[in-house]
Formats: sequence, structure tokens, C-alpha cells
Amino acid sequence: MQISVIGLGYLGAVHAASLAKLGHDVVGVDVDPARVVALAAGKAPFFEPCLDELLSQVTSSGRLTVSTDMAAVAGSRVHFVCVGTPQRPDGQAADLSYVDAAVDELVEHLGAGEIVVGKSTVPVGTAQRLADVVAAARPDATLAWNPEFLREGFAVQDTLHPDRLVYGVPGDAAGQRATTVLDEVFASPLAEGVPRIVTDYPTAELVKVAANSFLATKISFINAMAELCEVAGGDVAHLADAIGHDARIGRRFLDAGLGFGGGCLPKDIRAFRARADELGAGDAVAFLGEVDAINTRRRTRMVDLASEVLGGMVEGAEVTVLGAAFKPDSDDVRDSPALDVAARLAELGAVVTVHDPQAIDNARAKRPELRYERDLEAALAGADAVLLLTEWKQYRDLDPERVGTLVAQRTLLDGRNALSRSAWTDAGWQYRALGRR
Ligand code: UDX
Repeated sequence: MQISVIGLGYLGAVHAASLAKLGHDVVGVDVDPARVVALAAGKAPFFEPCLDELLSQVTSSGRLTVSTDMAAVAGSRVHFVCVGTPQRPDGQAADLSYVDAAVDELVEHLGAGEIVVGKSTVPVGTAQRLADVVAAARPDATLAWNPEFLREGFAVQDTLHPDRLVYGVPGDAAGQRATTVLDEVFASPLAEGVPRIVTDYPTAELVKVAANSFLATKISFINAMAELCEVAGGDVAHLADAIGHDARIGRRFLDAGLGFGGGCLPKDIRAFRARADELGAGDAVAFLGEVDAINTRRRTRMVDLASEVLGGMVEGAEVTVLGAAFKPDSDDVRDSPALDVAARLAELGAVVTVHDPQAIDNARAKRPELRYERDLEAALAGADAVLLLTEWKQYRDLDPERVGTLVAQRTLLDGRNALSRSAWTDAGWQYRALGRR
């Protein structure tokens, strides 16, 4: 099938490459010429495991072509809209200007019976509004909503092996036709055995924000328990294991530490609250404000803990921060807890050196005031305190003895509960972690 993908960021680039891998002829469109040049050469414009390999495969086979010109979508039967919906700089709500601009331009090129599929995370009610825009320009075209649940770092795997498919479609013959076409798009092997929920627009839009709100709540719940453990002398890692054995609760997403960041969870819970307020249902999700607050407090707690282990003398202290990305296997520093803590310590006068296997260029662009070191041992040399803030595998594998020969003080703060306390304390380190004795 000929398919277009509009917006080639994390979501769109992976989606376009995955559809091409499934055997479709895909044309990707993005307004950023640099991104298009990179993708045309089969290179991902960001770090994502397995993506370069997939891109070079599908661009060299000609299954994926890319363009900055929206006219390139002409002739596609299905058009996926994958542009970003960032947090507005002036508030909490989502900025829909990219989605609106993309759909306004797309409808100029729509042909008879074609299907527009929204994938961006949007405030509930947007799909119906866009369906009206599509219908006004092309009455025989249909809009469907098909939220995406991919995680950065696992984007290719999550796209090719989703754990569910959700279609929001109108409840008429056009909706049934859109469902059939989407089934064809995701035909075997992708959809084999994958649960598929066909519903209306608002539910499909809400599924995405509800899922992200639930995940954020789960993380903040365990981090709230970490606060309790800190004052009561408990151990949140043991607590998470113990409650996680209850299958109704489950152990996943109960890793206490510095909390969540990235381009999705923080902005999605804020935009959800803003939209609920507009709909007069703000009370229903007011608790997400608490979820956000608990999350932010973890960062403050980490800064306080660093100050404590440095005997209150942060100014001039040599601090090594391991990790800048918001999570491992990503070069994304959007709302990164690690980078936020590093910047706060630097503001307090610490001499902060940041290491990250992939995110240094993005971190430097965002926080040029910090020092960056690409060599891990050089970053650790002379440190008065080492803070592990993003749990990359290479940090998990560090040898406490070897690191001990590099630093000035054997003081380690494990912001992700990622290291073996006994291995580090046995090697003479002062080991401190969030939510643990
Ligand atoms: C998330 C959702 O998981 C995904 O389904 C959605 O499509 C987009 O948003 P992503 O932002 O890529 O994906 O990252 P995720 O793996 O969910 O992690 C989010 C943040 O939570 C990270 O900062 C991570 O470090 C943190 N986290 C995760 C915890 O602090 N504890 C946990 O137990 C799990």
C-alpha cells in the first residue's frame, strides 16, 4: 500500500521505517530539511537502537522516500499524522499548532476516499475538530485516531510488536471502511495475535493520556513511598519487590529514584490536567498535580543529598554526574531529571562534570554552562562525589575498585537504585541512594 507519514520525529521516523519494513511504499514528509537529508541517507537524526539499520535497509530498497514537500503525499491511500504536540511555553496545555498546520496543508493534497490517521498525542476533542477540517476539504475522506505507545530506546521493537492496537473511528460505514484499511496497513505479521480495540475518537485520544498518566502515577507512587522510607528508615527497593509480587500491582514501573522525565510523561500529565479543566472535570485528575509534585521533589531531594554528603560545602566541590539523557538508550534530554540535578548543583557552585554515552551534544545545547567529558574515566577523575542519575548499562557495570582509584572521595549517590550497595560499600565507598537507608 502507498502510505504517507507526516512528521518524522521520534514517532514518525520509526513509524515510517517500520511500515516500509512491513512492505508498504512509504513517503515521509517533514518541514526540517536537515532531518530529511539525514533520513534520505538512511541515518536516524537521533539515537535510537536498531533504527539506523532499519532505515538504511528501507531507504536503499526504495520502500521509504522522504521529502520536505507536502505534495509528495499525493496518491497515498493512508496518511499518518505524527507531528509533535509539545507543552506550550506559556502554560501547561499542549501546543497544537504543528498538528493544525500539518492537517491544513495535508487536506490540500487529499484524493478521493483517502484516510487521514492521527497518531500524535492530543487533548481529547481534537480528533473531532480535525475530522471536521478533513470533511470540509474532502467530504469522501475519513479521519481515524490511532495512538502510539512506543517507548524511546525500544521504539522499533514497540512499533513492530505492539501490545495493542487502538483505532478511534466514526461509528458509520466510513468508520468501518477506515477500520478495514487500518487492518490492511497493520496486516500480518505485525497485528498477528495483537489485541485490537475499535472505539470512538474521544476514547482513542483518552487511551493514550490515560496510559501515560497511569505510568506516571505508578512511578510517583513508589517515589512517595521512597519519601516515607527515608524518614522511617525503610528500604523502597525491598518494598517495591514485596508489593510487586502481587500480580494485581506488578513490579514493572516501580523503580524508585529520580523520577520520570522525557518528552511524554511530564508534558502529557500537564496537558491532560489543562484539558480536563477546560472540560469542567479538573477535579477528576487533580491528583496528577500531586504526581507531578512528587516527581519534582525527587530532584530536590537528590540535590539536598549531594549537599549532605559534601558536608554542606557544595561550592567548589568536584561532582561527577553519570548520565544526561532522561533514560538509558536515548540521547533525549527533554525534561531530563539528570540534567536538571546537574544544573542545580552547578548553580550552587559545584564544579560539575557530566558524562553520557549518547546525549552530550543535546545536553550541551541545552545547558552550555556545564562541563562535559566524553571519556568516562576522565569524567570520574578527582571527583569528591559521583552521582549516578541515568542508569546506562556501562554505569551498572562499573567496577567499584577501579573507580575508587580515580576519584578523590569514595562517595557515590545512586539516583536510580541501579547499583549493588554491598559491592560498593565492600570496596570502601560511602553509598547513598534515594529511598534507602
Ligand atoms: C513513555 C511511555 O512508556 C510510552 O508508552 C509512551 O508512548 C511515551 O511515554 P518514554 O517516555 O519513552 O515512554 O519512557 P519510559 O520508558 O516510559 O520512561 C519514562 C520515564 O520514567 C524515564 O525518565 C524513566 O527513567 C522513568 N521511570 C520509568 C522511572 O523513574 N521508574 C520506573 O520504574 C520506570
